Amino acid sequence: MAQFQTLPGFREFYPEDLARRNHIFRLWRQTAHAFGFAEYDAPVLEPLDLYRAKSGDEIEGQLFSFTDKGGREVALRPEMTPTVCRLVGAKASALKRPVKWFSLAEFFRYERMQKGRGRCFHQFNADIFGEPGPEAETELIALLVQCLCAFGLTEQDFYVRLSDRNLWFYYLEALGLDEARIRAVLGAVDRYEKYGDDAFQGYAELFGPLDPALKAQVLAFLQIKSLGALEQALAAIGGDKLAARLADWKKLLGGLDAMGLARFVEVDLGVVRGLAYYTGFVFEAFDRKGELRALAGGGRYDDLVEKLGGPALPAVGFAIGDMTFALLLEQRGLTPALVSAPDVYAVIGGPAERRAAFADIHALRAAGFRVEYPFRELAFGKQFKAAAESGARLALIYGGDELAKGVVKIRDLTDRSEREVPRDQAVVAVRDLLAGA
Ligand code: HAM
Repeated sequence: MAQFQTLPGFREFYPEDLARRNHIFRLWRQTAHAFGFAEYDAPVLEPLDLYRAKSGDEIEGQLFSFTDKGGREVALRPEMTPTVCRLVGAKASALKRPVKWFSLAEFFRYERMQKGRGRCFHQFNADIFGEPGPEAETELIALLVQCLCAFGLTEQDFYVRLSDRNLWFYYLEALGLDEARIRAVLGAVDRYEKYGDDAFQGYAELFGPLDPALKAQVLAFLQIKSLGALEQALAAIGGDKLAARLADWKKLLGGLDAMGLARFVEVDLGVVRGLAYYTGFVFEAFDRKGELRALAGGGRYDDLVEKLGGPALPAVGFAIGDMTFALLLEQRGLTPALVSAPDVYAVIGGPAERRAAFADIHALRAAGFRVEYPFRELAFGKQFKAAAESGARLALIYGGDELAKGVVKIRDLTDRSEREVPRDQAVVAVRDLLAGA
């Protein structure tokens, strides 16, 4: 048996598991529609080059990649962002802007497995193209928050950490660092929470140890946790670029505040995101208790569409992963007990009754009702037991007496009341009874 187990980190969905996943997808889809996002899909296998030097070293090292029979280097998609950039880039001039798109899809990363992390997982991706201002971030963070609140989660359960790579860039530039050094410092900031001081090792290897005074300034900036503190830190430096960023911050936080969502969002410059393509605001959602890995992550990536051969097009988006999210729902007791019961169970006499019952069963199913019946002839008692166990609301009884009168007997299994209806009115009667008429 052993050789036929799933590959490490891969998942199977038995019907109950899939019902839970579908429930999550259904609410995410519904929420995206409420925000006016349109759904798209794309291939699961992509040219390897789509990810090379675009997603960043971490993802590149985790690719499931191989050479196909035609000699092409290909990879299972580890994320949607480069793909959606290609889709939008290819039709950019024909698309009405802003482009607001979402998808529900599966991704693959050869990661070290841990709680909430697998080698295949699903993401809900939402992205906006063609809007350079923070209005797009407002819309997306509101969507992200609602995608979690739709399940009954509140600000006590999760929060969104908001940061800004652009601001970091301008800040480090003002401190006199060049682009290569800035990137190395941002790498250290990304790892600082996890590794502490060791996070600066990568920088030291490239450029020698970071000047202690500079490092102190980086660490102070990293600890900023409010707009007030941010304003203060920036006032000491000045400059148009930083002032413009601050104006964007106020617009974004003001918009979220007006929507009543400020309580979900925290300024936190300790977040810079590992993916290489982010250029502006970045954000990540976490559980409040800090027990789980990130629920969602995203940010602005204004250069990526062009880098992938499309026109220059501002873009921002995020993805929620299904694994940590399902864990959080479970921890909070918000995983619904999904009951999957038929509307109708047909209780059938002998072979002649079976013919009549089959005609009605098919008519009911074609009308959209969920109908079940026993494959084999069984005593009535056994069939009623099966009907009760199935959780059906109604039993339709096809006995010899009923057939002779041209009727079917309908028993309401919740109160055991019965009525006879002419067989040609069975569909209408079932509809009325289920609607409570
Ligand atoms: P990401 O931060 O790499 O961003 O992934 C987003 C979310 O997907 C994570 O917060 C996590 O919930 C989930 N996730 C990632 N890797 C795994 C894994 N190995 N196992 C389980 N869950 C995982 C992106 O992927 C960006 N492309 C998001 C984005 C969209 N940026 C702009 N638009």
